[in-house]
Amino acid sequence: MRTLTLLAILLASLLAFTVFAQPVVPAVPFHDNLRGTTPIDEEAKPPLIAPTENKDVIRGLNYAQQPPTIPHKIDNYQLDRNANKCLACHARSRAEESGAVPVAVSHYIDRAGEVSGHLSPRRYFCTQCHVPQADAKPLVGNTFQSVEDIRPLSSPTQPKSR
Ligand code: HEC
Ligand code: HEC
Repeated sequence: MRTLTLLAILLASLLAFTVFAQPVVPAVPFHDNLRGTTPIDEEAKPPLIAPTENKDVIRGLNYAQQPPTIPHKIDNYQLDRNANKCLACHARSRAEESGAVPVAVSHYIDRAGEVSGHLSPRRYFCTQCHVPQADAKPLVGNTFQSVEDIRPLSSPTQPKSR
């Protein structure tokens, strides 16, 4: 008799557990920074493509070794196996004439660490690392702080990385 009662209690508690284990549907309406309130099974209306920032003002770097962002438009600049429009202005030999910042010396160092007289093949496709910026409101918040902002550099004469 006692075993039966125990079994009944056990069953009852198991049942109660399964009832409570049902997934709880949040009361708040669905909201996502990228999709807005568009439900998951519907397609959100894409925002208009923001214009490329074209102010020709060099932006600061957010961290050491950051590839600087491109402060001008690069629409229709050919950059493929046959031609590299970027180098027409940015090659060290062209910089004086074009007024562009010459590519950094690091771009002439190959993967073996050898400095050569020509651009290293691994730096040929500039937009692998350098990107223009859109004049758009950020979709998600960002609290990134560079390490220099958090912990001031101890030595005032940091070697320039470029
Ligand atoms: C017609 C010449 C010209 C061409 C072509 C050109 N640039 Fe520039 N670039 C400039 C000039 C001039 C600046 C200096 C800032 C300004 O006036 O926009 C600059 C600035 C930059 C900077 C900022 C450098 C820094 O120190 O912050 C980057 C990065 C850059 N360009 C990358 C590119 C890439 C990648 C391409 C090819 C997709 C390209 N540029 C094509 C002229 C050019
Ligand atoms: C693999 C990534 C990568 C590629 C590809 C690359 N760069 Fe860079 N670039 C960097 C980084 C990182 C820096 C900053 C640190 C440094 O100087 O190396 C930089 C710096 C620069 C600068 C600033 C130089 C200065 O003295 O302020 C210019 C201009 C530039 N790159 C242009 C170009 C152009 C033009 C190309 C294509 C021919 C190119 N880069 C390809 C990573 C890259």
